[in-house]
Amino acid sequence: MSNYKRTLVTCALPYANGPVHIGHLAGVYVPADIYVRYLRAQGKDVLFICGSDEHGVPITIKAKKEGVTPQDIVDRYHNIIKKSFAGLRINFDIYSRTSSDIHSKTASDFFRKLYDEGKFIEKESEQYYDEEAKTFLADRYIVGTCPRCGAEGAYGDQCEKCGATLSPEELINPHSALSGGALVKKKTKHWYLPLNQYEDWLREWILDGHKEWKSNVYGQCKSWLDGGLQPRAVSRDLEWGVPVPVEGAEGKVLYVWFDAPIGYISNTKELLPEDWEKWWKDPETKLVHFIGKDNIVFHCIVFPSMLKAHGGYILPENVPANEFLNLEGDKISTSRNWAVWLNEYLEQFPGQEDVLRYVLCANAPETKDNDFTWKDFQQRNNSELVAIFGNFVNRAVVLTHKYFEGKVPAASQLQDIDREALEQIPALKESIGRNIETYHFREALKDAMQIARIGNKYISDTEPWKVAKTDLARTATILNVSLQICADLAIAFDPFTPFSCEKLRHILNVEALQWEKLGSTEILQTGHSLGEAQLLFAKVEDSVIEAQTARLEKIKAERLAAEEAKKPDVAPQKDECSFEQFEAMDIRTATVLEAERVPKTDKLLKLTIDTGIDRRVIVSGIAQYYSPEEMVGKQICILANLAPRVIRGIESKGMILMARQEDGKMRYITPAEALCNGAQIG
Ligand code: MF3
Ligand code: ZN
Repeated sequence: MSNYKRTLVTCALPYANGPVHIGHLAGVYVPADIYVRYLRAQGKDVLFICGSDEHGVPITIKAKKEGVTPQDIVDRYHNIIKKSFAGLRINFDIYSRTSSDIHSKTASDFFRKLYDEGKFIEKESEQYYDEEAKTFLADRYIVGTCPRCGAEGAYGDQCEKCGATLSPEELINPHSALSGGALVKKKTKHWYLPLNQYEDWLREWILDGHKEWKSNVYGQCKSWLDGGLQPRAVSRDLEWGVPVPVEGAEGKVLYVWFDAPIGYISNTKELLPEDWEKWWKDPETKLVHFIGKDNIVFHCIVFPSMLKAHGGYILPENVPANEFLNLEGDKISTSRNWAVWLNEYLEQFPGQEDVLRYVLCANAPETKDNDFTWKDFQQRNNSELVAIFGNFVNRAVVLTHKYFEGKVPAASQLQDIDREALEQIPALKESIGRNIETYHFREALKDAMQIARIGNKYISDTEPWKVAKTDLARTATILNVSLQICADLAIAFDPFTPFSCEKLRHILNVEALQWEKLGSTEILQTGHSLGEAQLLFAKVEDSVIEAQTARLEKIKAERLAAEEAKKPDVAPQKDECSFEQFEAMDIRTATVLEAERVPKTDKLLKLTIDTGIDRRVIVSGIAQYYSPEEMVGKQICILANLAPRVIRGIESKGMILMARQEDGKMRYITPAEALCNGAQIG
């Protein structure tokens, strides 16, 4: 920290396709804001940058669904998000957006420079295409079974169940999440950043140079690097985005993960047109990216490689990514409406912004996924903020008004109990600072709360309201000590709960206090007039929590009902058959050797298979579910002795066994483990 002149703090640019929720806040924005406020309280030069990420496929899909333009969608959510961040006092120096002209130009120029310098590979490839939706599919929109853990519904870029990073090719039974149908591959040209060329450099920079990164971040980087990096496409076939600034690239845009991080740069430029470069190019600037764990590879591997390829830019000094926050035991999901939305919280809990900040920090998923529950929210508010912090401050201030006309009374002889209380604070100050600087915000908050606990215990033990009956000088000392601790709290908590600390400064009648004052015993001068007493925190009643949990239960019940309704019917049982009839069927394992489409049909595949008995051809109506490439090499089950039939001029000998749902979805049957071909089934 010490050698840097200034700190540039960025937060992941939220997608403008929905409001911000508590998962985003706990993972990224609350910790970043705490970090920035702490540095500022120390008088450090800090810039805090964020904005909306307005490109990418999900936004175009949402627009399509609603029958509006992508710009309409991002306008709507950009404004909601921007306003709600301000409402929680996540005080970015700029909150701009990637649909701005300055961003478009910055990202376009960035690409063009790399292009002109031959830093990309230009390659034609086959990409998954959804013929029903008439669009190339982003990895996210290809779903299938995870090859690592077997979970259904894994995405083409990642399995959310086991966290594995995937490519669509690896998925088992890949299909379109858009139309549900099978995929075809189509040729298309794209530009690739050859990450493999940056591998050695990345290993040295991260694995040798940044051993201090959080273990979840370092670990993910290491497993990526150990797995070997591949060139990554930085363009997409899409209408919405920054056009690829190359001739003949019509209908292609920059991949959202190429342009979005450049958004950090363009937003800085927009804020400081004359002065932005020192924040991005001077090695005396410390760059820190706050992100969630799903963004690690982009911020630790892809974006640094882009910056390195471009040249002239500094690299992140740290990327303190957090894990995920769940809500009442379930994964937060924008699409399933399983979230607590910041904009709604701000409307429903006016004046209680800090409660959310406090709870989300106290429970931040720093080292593992964590759970947000409304019960815990209430508990932390009522038994920590209200009962400890608020209660202590209130007692100290009310008693000062009662016995000393609201003026800070003089401390005379300090007793051991007074000194013991005060002497603990400098160590806690150190600890808060060290924890914040190393991104351990939960611990830092615990330290701050420890100061409140010390104050609260001190005032309970010394009982100034009783002492006042006999010894006003001693009462004065106790209240002086108590008020100094109140002032400590106004400093220590300011990064975490800025609303309440502003209130506390009014109560104490002081201006904003620098961090260095924390722990000094004379923050408040004797005779200084306090402001009016008021409660810092209000109790959260049971009825409030019940309303919130009822809302979530309703959403869950609706979702379960919808899932139930979506389940296809099951066909009724067929008429009885005899054992002999069953025995007459020769069912066996076999393996697909070759597969091709039957020309001029869209349902049929011609499969050449090894049955263990022979090699033969079977024509099967599965082309809408499987591409030829997907079938090759797969072990299947067949009815071998079905009378041969000629289909489209091809003799088909046997039948591939398929499981078919009533909604039409079909999957081939495969033995639980590979067997030899020709193994009999029955
Ligand atoms: N929009 C992305 C997300 O929410 C984050 C983008 S971060 C940036 O996951 F670096 F690309 F800007
Ligand atoms: Zn998995």
